[in-house]
Parts: sequence; C-alpha cells; structure tokens
Amino acid sequence: MNILSKQHLCRLLSGAVAVLGLLTLASAQSNTKILIAHRGASAYAPEHTLAAYRLAIEQGADYVEQDLGVTRDGVLVCLHDDSLERTTNVREIFPGRFVEEQVNGRMRQRWRVRDLTLSEIKQLDAGSWFGAEFAGSQVPTWQEAIDLIRGSAGLFPELKSPGDYRSLGIDMPSLVIDLLRRNGLDTAGADTDTPVILQSFDETSLRRLASELPTLPRVFLIGNVSRQTVITNTRLQEMATFATGIGPAKEIVLAQPDLVERAHALGLTVMPYTFRSSATNSLDNLEKEMRHFLFTLGVDALFTNNPDRFPRQP
Ligand code: G3P
Ligand code: CA
Repeated sequence: MNILSKQHLCRLLSGAVAVLGLLTLASAQSNTKILIAHRGASAYAPEHTLAAYRLAIEQGADYVEQDLGVTRDGVLVCLHDDSLERTTNVREIFPGRFVEEQVNGRMRQRWRVRDLTLSEIKQLDAGSWFGAEFAGSQVPTWQEAIDLIRGSAGLFPELKSPGDYRSLGIDMPSLVIDLLRRNGLDTAGADTDTPVILQSFDETSLRRLASELPTLPRVFLIGNVSRQTVITNTRLQEMATFATGIGPAKEIVLAQPDLVERAHALGLTVMPYTFRSSATNSLDNLEKEMRHFLFTLGVDALFTNNPDRFPRQP
C-alpha cells in the first residue's frame, strides 16, 4: 500500500475542497433560479418567527433567511434589528432595560438584544405587532430555526453587526461556526436537503468563515450606501478571494446591470435584495420586477418577502 506524504495528502484535500466549492458555484449559477424567503414569508407573518419560516417552506422557498443576533448569555437568536422594540413588546415587559443611543441624529431608547438574556427574550411577544393571530410568537433561537427548517429547505444565515459584537469581545463568527459544526452542517453537501449559504455585510467575518468553513458558499452583501459607487472588476476580484457570491441591494444592479455578467465571469453568484409587495418597485408589479431581475438581468437568486409570488419560469 502506498503511504502518502503529509504534503501530498494536504494537496489532495485542498483539491477536493476546491472541487466541492466549484460544484456548489456551478449549481448556483445554473438556469435554476433560487428563491430565498427574506426573514421567512415576512409579507404574511411576523418576520423571523417560526410561523414565518413555516409559511416560507409551505410557499416553496429554496432557502429561508435568518438574521442573527447574540443574547447577553451568548445565544444566537433570529432577529433583524440589533434591538427588540420594533418587533416585540419589550418596552412593556422590561420598561427599564433600554440604553439611549443616537440613531440617524436623534436620541432613541433601544432595548438591545445583547443586553437581555435568552430567558428574558423568550418572555417577549414577537407576533402581536404584526397581527393579533400571531400573539404569543417568540423570538426563535437559531437552533430552533434549524430544527424547523432542516430537511425542508436551505438555511441562509446573516451575521448582523459582527463588528459591534467584536468590540464587546463577542466572537460572532465562532458562535455560527460552532453551531453549524454541532449540527453537522459545516461542509457543503453534508445534508443535501439542507444546504447552507452564509452572508454578511462584514468583510472581516466572511474572510474568517472562508478560512474556517471553506466549502460553504459565502455571500458578501453590498448596501444601498454604495449605490452610486461603481463596483469595479478589481473590487470584484478582491471579493472573489473571500466570497463565492455577492448580494447587492437591487438598486445597485439596476444602476449597473453589467455587474451580473462581470461577477459571473469571476465565478461569483449574484443574489440581490429585497423584493417585496409592500414597496413601490421598479416595474410597478412585483412578479414583473422579479422576472426582470431573474430572466433579463440574469441574477441567480433573490431575496423576497413574498415567496408565493416568485416566478420559476420566464
Ligand atoms: O440579507 C439580505 C438582506 O436581507 C439585507 O438586508 O437589512 O433586510 O438584512 P436586511
Ligand atoms: Ca438579511
């Protein structure tokens, strides 16, 4: 029997990792378009509740998105905002637990996720703000979301504000990596019914994920603030060193539609956000808008609050 040298083995392993990554990219860039339920089916149920995730699955989502925050006791929970007052009754339940922070030039009282423990957050009602029929819905932990979605759709977690957590000594990427490992979902193809794509606006976190979870696809989000900034090929090449795809605000793609082809040429997928019935959209009609992005501009996937209206065909 041949005994492989350590160096040879390393070369073989890194080759296998690269092939897996390419296969993932190739499938993401095929003609099959990918439906990502943005915060669940959030047009119809309170965002980031199990009800919204369940409905997204029923409406045929390929992936269900979770925005992630970290509680005071270090648990990953699903919530879009860094604070709880918009989508829960935290003001009523914990009236004194706010901090005063400047938001858009105005002082605001904010009940930050990182200041409350999981057991405190679990006392909150995360559904009533949306509709009385959702009263009693809780903020789910990421583990609860995984347990619900696993086997029925993919997971599309976003690391929200990891830089803020970093400055407090909380290592958000580590928490995400650990939970994926504990669930056996830390490599591409580990559970074909539950693929995982990671996303963040934070380059540092994506670089870390690239080094620790090299086979999982990683989408670099690009926000509206950069709408006027042309994304050059040089910058795209840099992104391709730590990400496998980009997730631009849809306005960025409209302003520079050649971005899709330029990103594809570098092997990057393109997954713009957010397509929703509640906002004026570029073509007066949500289906038309989504069809335009998917089949005319050629994006690979899109984030929508309305999974039931995602057009599978041109
Ligand atoms: O993650 C894609 C999109 O959701 C980014 O925007 O603010 O809805 O998390 P946001
Ligand atoms: Ca998000």
